[in-house]
Amino acid sequence: TAKSLVLGIETSCDETAAAVVEDGHILKSNIISSQMEIHRRFGGVVPEVASRRHVERVTSIIEQALGEAKVTKEELSAVAVTQGPGLVGALLIGISAAKAFSFATGVPLVGVHHIAGHIYASHLVEPLRFPLVALVASGGHTELIYMPEHNRFERLGRTRDDAAGEAFDKVARVLELPYPGGPHIDRLAKAGAPHLDLPRSWLGDSLDFSFSGLKSAVINLLHNSQQRGETIEKADLAASFQASVVEVLVEKAVRATRLKGVSELVLAGGVSANSALREALASRCREEGIILRVPPLELCTDNAAMIAAAGTYQFRDGQFAGLDLNATANLSL
Ligand code: KG4
Ligand code: ZN
Repeated sequence: TAKSLVLGIETSCDETAAAVVEDGHILKSNIISSQMEIHRRFGGVVPEVASRRHVERVTSIIEQALGEAKVTKEELSAVAVTQGPGLVGALLIGISAAKAFSFATGVPLVGVHHIAGHIYASHLVEPLRFPLVALVASGGHTELIYMPEHNRFERLGRTRDDAAGEAFDKVARVLELPYPGGPHIDRLAKAGAPHLDLPRSWLGDSLDFSFSGLKSAVINLLHNSQQRGETIEKADLAASFQASVVEVLVEKAVRATRLKGVSELVLAGGVSANSALREALASRCREEGIILRVPPLELCTDNAAMIAAAGTYQFRDGQFAGLDLNATANLSL
């Protein structure tokens, strides 16, 4: 096959990102403009603020991505954009930019599922080996996906309420830690012991997740102890909460690989930065003979290179989008 160059655009949440990827796995450029500082003061992402920032930034980010890659518009094989899931208003900015680009240049348009993108982050480091199972855990999603080959996805499980990262962020807020709270809980947990009794939500044999009960249990534990005039060490609470999340994620990820009889497990999403999760998953995978792949953090969090990579294999399968492409907030794989 001829060399392919794909421009990726990602605006599903609070990162405005564009990137160029060659042949689905060679990173030519990867530009990310984060809005985290803007949203921090609100304690979370404010959708309209995010959209407004994307609309200011997206065109210059695309230009930067092409410039750094030293690629001209004429050389591109496709423009791949995140179609969903995500914040509708935010998605629409990237989609509109991608459509305008496609309309003006004649470069074909590809609509990419954000979770597919997260899985392909690993592909930019070392080619994916199929069949595989992926655990994608971030502020917006917690999903277990089976992939028999490129561009084929089967969802094995998902969260029924909060995403894992969302639970970290909400518990961090209760503990009066800054947003986003995941890294702060990770750090604080190292100073504590996971001895507090908190629930694990197994949901029977299901590979689905649920974290909202755990979050409520943390809040209740804190309130009840305050009412009794006792003090709970915040570090212990952070460690106990984290232990509960990690235990469930590790167990279900391993269960999913066994169910599918695969030996490749790919971790993705912002929560894969969690040190306890990385350690627990690595040691468990060693025991089980599972090959674990964790891409570097800058590729785990939202970026457009992963969208370009996933988009390349859709492009190769002839899966193009029309100029009527729309955002889908709850798009399923
Ligand atoms: O993938 P990501 O950057 O954006 C989304 O698509 O959501 O993930 C961000 C999420 C946040 O909820 C953040 O608290 C969490 O990842 N996170 C962590 C850690 N670092 C980031 N959660 C636990 N431990 C960490 N070290
Ligand atoms: Zn994401």
